Amino acid sequence: MRIRAAVLEEFAQPLVVQELDLAEPRAGEVLVRLEACGVCHTDMYTASGVDPSGYAPTVLGHEGAGVVEAIGDGVSSLAVGDHVVTLFSPQCRECVHCRSPKTNLCLAIRDQQNQGHLPDGTTRLSRDGEPIRHFMGTSTFAEYTVMPEIALAKVSPEAPLDRACLFACGLSTGLGAAMFTAGVEAGSTCVVFGAGMVGLGAVAGCRLQGAERIVCVDLSDERLQMARHQGATDVMHGGPQVVDAILEMTGGFGADYTIEATGLVSVMRQAVESARMGWGLATMCGVAGKGETLDVIPRYLITGRRVAGSSFGGVKGRDQVPLLVQRYLDGDIDVDAFLSHQISLDEVNRGFELMEAQDGIRSVISFG
Ligand SMILES: NC(=O)c1ccc[n+]([C@@H]2O[C@H](COP(=O)([O-])OP(=O)(O)OC[C@H]3O[C@@H](n4cnc5c(N)ncnc54)[C@H](O)[C@@H]3O)[C@@H](O)[C@H]2O)c1
Ligand SMILES: [Zn+2]
Ligand SMILES: [Zn+2]
Repeated sequence: MRIRAAVLEEFAQPLVVQELDLAEPRAGEVLVRLEACGVCHTDMYTASGVDPSGYAPTVLGHEGAGVVEAIGDGVSSLAVGDHVVTLFSPQCRECVHCRSPKTNLCLAIRDQQNQGHLPDGTTRLSRDGEPIRHFMGTSTFAEYTVMPEIALAKVSPEAPLDRACLFACGLSTGLGAAMFTAGVEAGSTCVVFGAGMVGLGAVAGCRLQGAERIVCVDLSDERLQMARHQGATDVMHGGPQVVDAILEMTGGFGADYTIEATGLVSVMRQAVESARMGWGLATMCGVAGKGETLDVIPRYLITGRRVAGSSFGGVKGRDQVPLLVQRYLDGDIDVDAFLSHQISLDEVNRGFELMEAQDGIRSVISFG
């Protein structure tokens, strides 16, 4: 079929919206009609050419939600008409990582996905007979996409898809960092560094876990206001004074849980140093620049602090994204607050500009 899609033709150049060919889903694959797709930092990072693993041409986009249009042979967990959220982090339920409760990093299709291929090593996207590679196994800046069954989470049809799409990346990453990776305990004190999509999700996650005190740190007053709305009890401007301020607020000990959502290694270090002696857990969500390293004075670790990294919030996508969406439907998470701009596929480059200008939390492409 012919579809319209936003193609990264050349790094550091605007995406070009154009018609491409999309082949039928093969065995284990599903054709999804996208209804909505968020514009995330990772799309812009790859488009910029800074990402060492990036390639072009490709169809970007990974924060998608839509409706199943067709299924390939052997697909048993999804049917035509199901509402789905796309998963750049799949869940095969069979590999050694999927069978462990300790990680969400499914191994099943990692290599093929990183190369821009579907699991059988080929692409469904093409232009004039030339294959076009998929991006993050999703390629959702497009009217339709073909994805492996194991990379789609079936969600309640009651969830508006322009809200549900945020659970495909940023929101689940933040919620999950607090709920799954850190496993924040009721009554605890938490500090969240950064109040973008991920940090605000983490604030909401800490609240859902019953944290007593949630401090959010950011540079923007507007975003700190949003953090209060999501459940922060205290807010603070970022800067070199933050660690001392947190220690002072916590009787000199530090916070039970700190969560970093800025991508800055200097802030990651603050997250370690403001975690509590004895049991403080510092969870890192941010993606740092290539070659950057995190400086940690070992004494912080010997005295009982721990550091964890979190990819997609530790969320096992097919099992847990539907549960997070249900919590939204139950009224536990205000997702509307994150949706700042609704744009068309043709305006995708404007989505990048808005992100660069830090105008709003998320721009969502609507395909309606
Ligand atoms: N681990 C994952 O699976 C995953 C998934 C999505 C995004 N990410 C990463 O998470 C990070 C956050 O993503 P986002 O979409 O929320 O980004 P964002 O840019 O919208 O938010 C980052 C926030 O950090 C704030 N900030 C900057 N300097 C600060 C400082 N010194 N102290 C405190 N706050 C400061 C900014 O004001 C901004 O609000 C990025 O690095 C992104 O690449 C990781
Ligand atoms: Zn993302
Ligand atoms: Zn797996």
